[in-house]
Amino acid sequence: MQRTTDKEWDQVWIGADIATMVAGAEPYGNIENAALAVKGERIAWIGPAAEGLSRAGAQNLPIQDAHGLWMTPGLIDCHTHLVYGGNRIEEFEKRLCGVSYEDIARAGGGIQSTVLATRAATHEELHASAAIRAKQLMSEGVTTIEVKSGYGLELAAERRLLEVARDLGKELPVSIKKTFLGLHALPQEFAAHRQDFVAQVSGPWLESLAAAGLVDAVDAFCENIAFSLAETEQLLQAARQMGLPAHVHAGQLSDMGAAELAAKWDALSAGHLEYLSAAGARSLSAARTVAVLLPAAYFTLRQTTPPPVAMLREAGVALAVATDCNPGSAPCTSILLALNMACTLFGLTPEEALSGATRQAARALGELDDIGTIEVGKRADVAFWRIDRPAELCYGLGANPCVDVMHRGKLRAHG
Ligand code: NIG
Ligand code: FE
Repeated sequence: MQRTTDKEWDQVWIGADIATMVAGAEPYGNIENAALAVKGERIAWIGPAAEGLSRAGAQNLPIQDAHGLWMTPGLIDCHTHLVYGGNRIEEFEKRLCGVSYEDIARAGGGIQSTVLATRAATHEELHASAAIRAKQLMSEGVTTIEVKSGYGLELAAERRLLEVARDLGKELPVSIKKTFLGLHALPQEFAAHRQDFVAQVSGPWLESLAAAGLVDAVDAFCENIAFSLAETEQLLQAARQMGLPAHVHAGQLSDMGAAELAAKWDALSAGHLEYLSAAGARSLSAARTVAVLLPAAYFTLRQTTPPPVAMLREAGVALAVATDCNPGSAPCTSILLALNMACTLFGLTPEEALSGATRQAARALGELDDIGTIEVGKRADVAFWRIDRPAELCYGLGANPCVDVMHRGKLRAHG
C-alpha cells in the first residue's frame, strides 16, 4: 500500500471508490472502498477505508464520508481555444446550407471572422465570455485547461488573449496552461507578406510573449488552408531554441505529413489526426507525441473519416481526448460529451476515453509528474462523482454526475 512518512493529514475521505487511472492490472486503476488523505495541495495517502479510518482517529482528524461516491483525477481538457470574441452562428447556418468549412475559410470567414471579433472586443468582454466557458468545463470535474491564443494574430491582441487565460487561472479554482498559437491563420494585413508574418510570429512576438511569462508552449495549424510544413517548422525551431515545448494541429482536413513534423520536433501533442498515414502514426509513437483526439470538431464539421484509432493503438501512440472548445469547429464546453463522442464516433473504450482526459491529457501537457492520476505525491486535483462505475462518465449525453471538485487540495464548494 502506498504511504508517506508524514502522518499529518489535513483532510481524509473515507469509503469512496477511486478510479486512480494509474495504468496497471485493475481497470481504471480502481481501488474500491478506499480512503484518500490530503496534506496541503498534495495527495498524502491512499489505502483501504478501514485503515484510513484508524489512522485518522490516531490523528484526531475529522473524517469526510465519501461512501457512494467515485473519485477520479480532476479532468484535464488539454486542447481548447477558450478565449475569443463573438461567435460563428452565421457560419453554422451557412454550413448547414451546404457551404464547406474550407470554402468559408478561403472566403475570409472562419478563423478570420473570429479574429476581427476578438480584436474588436474589450479585455472585459473577452474575460467574461471565457470565464463562462471555463466554469462550464469546471462544472464537469475539469481542474486543468489548456488555452490557446490564435484569434488575435497581432502582437497586442495575442498578448491580451494569453493574459486573459493567465488571469482565469489566478481567479478561478482551475489550472491553466497557456499556448501561443501564433500560426493559426494568416491575418489580412499580412496577405501579401506571408513570410514576414511567420518570421514575426517565430521571432519578436514569441520572444516578447515568452519574456512576459505568457507562453507555456507554442502551436501551429499545419494545414493546406493554414500553414505549410516549412512555415510550421520555423515556429517549432524557434520554440526549441527557447526551450519551449510544442503542440501541432495536424491532419484535420488532409495529410500533409504534419504528424511526422510534430514528431521530428518532439511535440508534446498532435491534435485532430483524422488524416494520418501508418508512417505518421509510427513517428508519433517513436517521439512519444500524444495524439489528441477532438471528436466535437469532427462532429460539428460533420466529417466522415475518423482518426485511425486502430492504427494509432497498434503503433503504441498515447491517445488523449479534448473538447477543442472554439467558436468555429467545436462550440463545445462539455468534456463529458467529448468523452462520449470519442467512444461513440471514434470507437475508444470508455477506459481509453477517460484515460484520454486524465493520464494521457497530463502527458500531452508535459505534466504527468504532477497531475493526471490519483497517486501519493501528486497534486490533490480530484473530481467526485455520483455514478455506478467509471464508464458512466462516457455513457451519458448531457448528464452531469459531478458532485464536487477538489483543486490543489481545496474543495470548490468551500472556495
Ligand atoms: O482546432 N484547426 C484550427 N483551429 C480550430 C478551429 C478554429 C476555428 O474554426 O475557429 C480547431 O478546429
Ligand atoms: Fe484546435
